[in-house]
Amino acid sequence: MLEVRDVSFQYESGEPVLEHMNIQIEEGEFIGLGGRNGCGKTTVTRLLMGLEQPTSGEILHDGKVINGDDASVRSRFMGYVFQRPERQMFRPTVREEAAYGPQQLGMSREDVDAAVRDALAATDLTHLADAYPPNLNRGEKQRVAIASAIAMHTKYLILDEPTSGQDSADKEMLMTLLTDLNRKGMTILLITHDMDILARYCKRVLVIGNRTKAFDGTPEDLFTKRSDLYDLGLSRPDAVTLSMAVPGLGYCKSMQEFTAAMVQRLGGNH
Ligand SMILES: Nc1ncnc2c1ncn2[C@@H]1O[C@H](COP(=O)(O)OP(=O)(O)O)[C@@H](O)[C@H]1O
Ligand SMILES: [Mg+2]
Repeated sequence: MLEVRDVSFQYESGEPVLEHMNIQIEEGEFIGLGGRNGCGKTTVTRLLMGLEQPTSGEILHDGKVINGDDASVRSRFMGYVFQRPERQMFRPTVREEAAYGPQQLGMSREDVDAAVRDALAATDLTHLADAYPPNLNRGEKQRVAIASAIAMHTKYLILDEPTSGQDSADKEMLMTLLTDLNRKGMTILLITHDMDILARYCKRVLVIGNRTKAFDGTPEDLFTKRSDLYDLGLSRPDAVTLSMAVPGLGYCKSMQEFTAAMVQRLGGNH
């Protein structure tokens, strides 16, 4: 489990960003993290990663305070995909980039090679193993960062707005990959502004508002019960709005579900 316990934080130059924030993340979860621009989403994940230190409060891993463990120690169990993944790539090839973490762990040459081979296959990068990472497109760079986490067998993977600015095919590919990794046991924490992704893929949603956690629950509860979505910088996905407008239809988390529910209902009436 990863835990943010009573954490407050402010950058040296600025106002308080987070006040008395509490989050618990269990292994195996698929969590979306939302909230308006500048509310502190990236900051929370940097605190988890050890790239920032809380002004007060604690970060815990499996019950142990890890405030003193730097980012390189935490990268053994936490992978991270930056909003601009090129900023985390320093090796001349995709293969070497993915091999860096396992090498730092002191794995044998054969184990590193096997871990990298599996990680590149899982992220559909085998054909780009010898490519220079800066030459890749954004989706490919993200997959290199994910491959690095897979090669390290990290328990957690944190992604900062990976789908913003991507077309729907890239989005679908990434979300399919994340769903698959989650099924195999990886815990996913995904920052996103995409309401359809929160509804369709996330089992739990955290929202930051007013410098602390403003919501923690299922996407269904968020989108059907909260009357302050606008204030939180969120909106209700069309599929949810439509399903709520049809009496008795039940909650639909995607247009596919809504369409299927309508087809079934119309079929039943004939
Ligand atoms: N390096 C920094 N120095 C000073 N202020 C920062 C820094 N990074 C972010 N901030 C400020 O902290 C707040 C939270 O930022 P951030 O966590 O990036 O929000 P989000 O990811 O939700 O958009 C914002 O007001 C932002 O301007
Ligand atoms: Mg951000």
